[in-house]
Amino acid sequence: MIVLGIETTCDETAAAVVERQDGSGRGKILSNIVRSQIADHAAFGGVVPEIAARAHVEVLDLLIARAMREAERGFHQIDGVAAAAGPGLIGGVIVGLTTAKAIALVREKPLIAVNHLEAHALTARLTDTVAFPYCLFLASGGHTQIVAVRGVGDYVRLGTTLDDAIGEAFDKTAKLLGLGYPGGPRVEKEAQFGDAGRFNLPRPMAGRIDCDFSLSGLKTALRLEAERIAPLTDEDVADLCAAFQQAVVDVVADRLRCGLRMFRDTFGPPTALVAAGGVAANQAIRKILHRLAFESGTVLVVPPPELCTDNGAMIAWAGAERLALGLTDTLDASPRARWPLGEVSKPAEPKHDTKRGTKSG
Ligand code: KG4
Ligand code: ZN
Repeated sequence: MIVLGIETTCDETAAAVVERQDGSGRGKILSNIVRSQIADHAAFGGVVPEIAARAHVEVLDLLIARAMREAERGFHQIDGVAAAAGPGLIGGVIVGLTTAKAIALVREKPLIAVNHLEAHALTARLTDTVAFPYCLFLASGGHTQIVAVRGVGDYVRLGTTLDDAIGEAFDKTAKLLGLGYPGGPRVEKEAQFGDAGRFNLPRPMAGRIDCDFSLSGLKTALRLEAERIAPLTDEDVADLCAAFQQAVVDVVADRLRCGLRMFRDTFGPPTALVAAGGVAANQAIRKILHRLAFESGTVLVVPPPELCTDNGAMIAWAGAERLALGLTDTLDASPRARWPLGEVSKPAEPKHDTKRGTKSG
């Protein structure tokens, strides 16, 4: 089955065509076009929702046409149209979902209103055919979650952040230190040359038995250190980045260790630890994820960087996985700014015929 996917929830406009084999469930990306809006927002130090929505409108139809062309498929050859219907910046979500509805209506194709987080959660099945159940660590600019992925539409959130997302903390640190946006890659680069031991930053939530995160105390501690030693030299900036990144690595190790334990206690051993979201591109974080997977007797699966960050292929793939189970949506599907994973619809439970073998069976 072949599905067109559209992503417009944040600052990437993306369209892709993905194929899912009916029997094996294997996936293949036929095209995957992403246009990043980073340049449009850079001057503001973060994403401006109004600018984002307008930029999606300007390029989305061109991107869809290109995705279809590169996939060498016409609209009559696709089996469904998927769009991220949330969670995200509502102006952008409306643009993507409305466009998908228009195509579905005109071409008489099923619509799949995909949860953006579900798409991140299922990407590892597109790239690595990972079986359920697995433990997802999702860390992006907007989300930090540890999730038990038990099946399509069947997600149990084990932990989340009480304040900032990890990517957001990297972005705010970069802004504070004058490194620009997006901050993650720049902080990582500076950290290479810094001395992580020079500053004593906190490891918030360490030692708690749950697996929630909190990053705002770390961010404040970093700001106080920076203010204490200002004006900052290049060496100071590198040392602060290294100390911050090491603190995040330690926090991830502590929280995810608890998350994996909770997973095991409730659902048995996971088939894999799967990482998703832009933060998974960070080498120091990847290294600790490898160690954690090894410690808990499982394997680490990290989709390639271009599929960890926001893209259309993950939406098309989630659409295909849902379509394969008959999970489609009507043209009434609403765009949603908030949409927790636990509220995603799942296939109806297989009906157990309790009367089997009896007279009426
Ligand atoms: O998944 P993503 O592309 O977009 C969403 O937020 O949905 O993630 C972007 C986030 C940004 O906060 C960015 O700073 C962070 O991922 N990021 C990184 C790295 N590359 C991107 N954080 C730490 N280290 C990196 N190398
Ligand atoms: Zn995302």
